[in-house]
Amino acid sequence: MNIDDIKTVAVIGAGDMGHGIAEVALIAGYKVFLRDINQEFIDRGVARIHESLEKLVSKEKVPAEHHNKIRSELLVPCTDLKGAVEEADLVIEAIPEVLDLKKTTFKEMDAAAPVNAIFASNTSTRSITDIAAATKRPDKVLGLHYFNPAVLMKLVEVIRADKTSDETMQIGFEFVQKNGKVPVRVQKDVPGFVVNRVQAPSGVLLNCILDEGIAGPEEVDAVMRKLGMPMGPYEIMDYTGLDINYNGSQYFADKIHPDFAPGKTIEFKVNAGEFGKKTGKGLFDWSKGRPEIDLAKATDKFDPMDLVAVNANEVTKIVAMGVCSLEDADTAVVNATGNVMGYIAMIKGIEPEDLTKRLDGLAEKFNKEIFKPTEMIKNGHYR
Ligand SMILES: NC(=O)c1ccc[n+]([C@@H]2O[C@H](COP(=O)([O-])OP(=O)(O)OC[C@H]3O[C@@H](n4cnc5c(N)ncnc54)[C@H](O)[C@@H]3O)[C@@H](O)[C@H]2O)c1
Repeated sequence: MNIDDIKTVAVIGAGDMGHGIAEVALIAGYKVFLRDINQEFIDRGVARIHESLEKLVSKEKVPAEHHNKIRSELLVPCTDLKGAVEEADLVIEAIPEVLDLKKTTFKEMDAAAPVNAIFASNTSTRSITDIAAATKRPDKVLGLHYFNPAVLMKLVEVIRADKTSDETMQIGFEFVQKNGKVPVRVQKDVPGFVVNRVQAPSGVLLNCILDEGIAGPEEVDAVMRKLGMPMGPYEIMDYTGLDINYNGSQYFADKIHPDFAPGKTIEFKVNAGEFGKKTGKGLFDWSKGRPEIDLAKATDKFDPMDLVAVNANEVTKIVAMGVCSLEDADTAVVNATGNVMGYIAMIKGIEPEDLTKRLDGLAEKFNKEIFKPTEMIKNGHYR
């Protein structure tokens, strides 16, 4: 099988991610069956696709005729799983993050889809290997991890589970390219894959800065805004949701190292029901729209390079594990975040001794083993 055999796609789940993944494939010209569990959810997903396409047509990014073709021909909404997958060459699952639900769904897909069809999961935190084990075709199962919103974000991580074949990886990779996205191969099914994993240590450091009263959210965000970030890191936490941040930290603490456990300030906020933007209050007040950050509050009480150093250190850990290359980790970060450079590019000019000293200093100051420099950092093999 090769990429030209992929003509019909089924997307299972029409929520935040599923409707976006379907839209991207429709724009690329694929026939897409979109399935959700009831008509109301399907109607909502379809409406979101058309609203977004209308905007793209008005910006001349999608021709009006193509939108008409999507409406009349390419998009097939359905509530029946069998009907959705029986003609599919590729099935992409984007249902809630519950392992048992995903396994049951994959089992049903396995019984109803053509024997050659490839199955992908968009999971962020479940093991693709565990999901694949629910089918009789684990060689044809992989992760295709899109970022939110799928229509805008360029990166898709293409994840190899324990039994994924080279052919399946290659087809997944080329499918992402055909969708106008940037694929990065993730060669091992590790928690957080690449982007979420390599950004986790700076999250820990930001928690330390808050919890130990070194600097406040506005002081830190003002520094990062002055450096050109459209949103500072604490505002991003609020924007995404402190509950999501809390759960993500807990997940990494369970799966990777206890040092990733949620920060005390975040825990306090979550227990108080202050989740950020969605509740109107979090680290900032969102009641009047986006919080105003006073750039004059920029502080020198923390060094932004520390955030880069701990994340770059994490990149070297997953590279040593054979998850991806240094270059691919940077490509992934740039295309998932909009940062102009990846963490490795940012540390290239720094001497290994200086970086080692910085990371040892952070590990000691905050009592975090995860900040300790790796061998690759110490011997300068990131240059
Ligand atoms: N939201 C994000 O930022 C994000 C980013 C990357 C990956 N993900 C992953 O994508 C997946 C979906 O997340 P989401 O944010 O789109 O969730 P969501 O809750 O917005 O959408 C899930 C949809 O799946 C539907 N559903 C439930 N059971 C189903 C079934 N058996 N068959 C078909 N549809 C079913 C629900 O009705 C709902 O419409 C999760 O695995 C999540 O971890 C989410």
